Formats: sequence, structure tokens, C-alpha cells
Amino acid sequence: MISEKLERAFNEQINAELYSEYLYLSMKGYFERLNLKGFVNWMDVQVQEEHAHALGMYDYVHERGGKVELMAIEKPQTNWNSPLDVFEHVLRHEELVTSKINALMDVAEEVHDRAALSFLDWYLKEQVEEEASVGGVLSTLQLIKDDANALLLLDKDLATRTFVAPVIG
Ligand code: FEO
Repeated sequence: MISEKLERAFNEQINAELYSEYLYLSMKGYFERLNLKGFVNWMDVQVQEEHAHALGMYDYVHERGGKVELMAIEKPQTNWNSPLDVFEHVLRHEELVTSKINALMDVAEEVHDRAALSFLDWYLKEQVEEEASVGGVLSTLQLIKDDANALLLLDKDLATRTFVAPVIG
């Protein structure tokens, strides 16, 4: 059975993952308004990934005999200055999520829950991949600057991203 302290920390992280889903849905809307369909697709995959991250923890808390308590999801930002501005925000956000996963693992360590630590390893690896993939798009956007043709080429590239349901844990 999961300890109360760890249960609370998991519930907070479920909220953070759902907020991430909400944030990327908001960013998807921004790209819809710019008619950049590849960016829309990239964000759509991101939304689905965050949903899967939240549900992975939701299932895990139940599997461990705990109680999931859903909390209010904060209103996300709705506008950005440019695609570059969006991806700078995505990277900042993913770095924040990484620090939250680390903090969650600290709680699991504190209550000596090795099973939870082993489960959370997957999330830690996922964060490394997420930061790398976001960083890749961000550096391309930094090179592109105001070149509309290059932006459209990147848009085409981002249209090829597909969602693969993750096997968590
Ligand atoms: Fe679920 Fe992008 O962190």
C-alpha cells in the first residue's frame, strides 16, 4: 500500500501532467490560429502524451491501493509572440516537470518505497527524451528567425510526428 505522503505527491503530479496537457492544448490552439498544421500536429501528439502520463500515474495509485484525488487545473496561457516564444515556454515547462518528477522521487525515497521509485524511472527517462526533442525544435526555430520559407519547411517536418501509446512502468 502506498503511504499517504506519497499518495499526495502522486496526486499533485497527476495534476501537473493534466496541466501540461491543458497547456499544450492551448498552444495547439495558437498554432491553429496561425494555420501551421505541422505545429498543430506536434502539439496534438504532445497533448496525447501528457494525457497518457497522467493516466499512467492514475492507474498506478489505484494499483497500489491508494486514492486518486483530482484537483482543479490552472488556466493556461493562451497567447504567445511567435513559434519561438512557444517553444521557449515548452522547454521551460518540461524542465519544471523534470524537477517535479525528481521531487516526487525524493518523496518515494523518503518513505522507502522502492517499487514507486522503479515505476518513476520510466518518467525520468521520458523527461530526458522530452527535453531533447523540444530542444531540437527550439534550436531549429532559433536558426530560422524570420525566414517564413524555413518555418514552413519545419512545419512540414513536424507534421510527420505520430503518437505511439507509451508502455509505462
Ligand atoms: Fe509529462 Fe511532458 O511531461
